[in-house]
Amino acid sequence: MKILMVCLGNICRSPLAEGILQSKVSTDTFVDSAGTQAWHSGKHPDMRSIEIAKKFGIDISKQKARQFKVTDFDFFDKIYVMDQSNFKDVCKSAPNDSALDKVQFILNEVTPNTNQEVPDPYYGGVDGFLNVFELLDNACNEIAKNISKNA
Ligand code: 4NP
Repeated sequence: MKILMVCLGNICRSPLAEGILQSKVSTDTFVDSAGTQAWHSGKHPDMRSIEIAKKFGIDISKQKARQFKVTDFDFFDKIYVMDQSNFKDVCKSAPNDSALDKVQFILNEVTPNTNQEVPDPYYGGVDGFLNVFELLDNACNEIAKNISKNA
């Protein structure tokens, strides 16, 4: 199973999603993350994401940001997005219906069909990063449960 986490900049939310999910599954599951924008390509995650992950025993400091690319639709089985704008941007580059079917709001794993968003914490304070961590941790518990059920 190969899973891609996508947000806008690939420095706050999706690096956390990648680190949290990878911590809950075996190495048979490949987890990666990307941003719809290239602004921060090559950069390590935002310090606030690194710090909140570290508090929960997860090291995301070595990750490097990259931009989402159309070939990700071929490689990954599932593409999780954080919000409406990521959903729109990823879906508009989908080459066909089977690619589109891979795209899912990550919080729909917790509250199906509601398309709730993981809020962008970039311009806020540290509290926002804790909130993002908790939302992603819940969602990744569901994803990990489903992976082990289908293994
Ligand atoms: P992310 O957060 O999409 O969760 O990585 C953001 C990171 C950077 C910016 C916006 C959101 N930015 O405007 O540079």
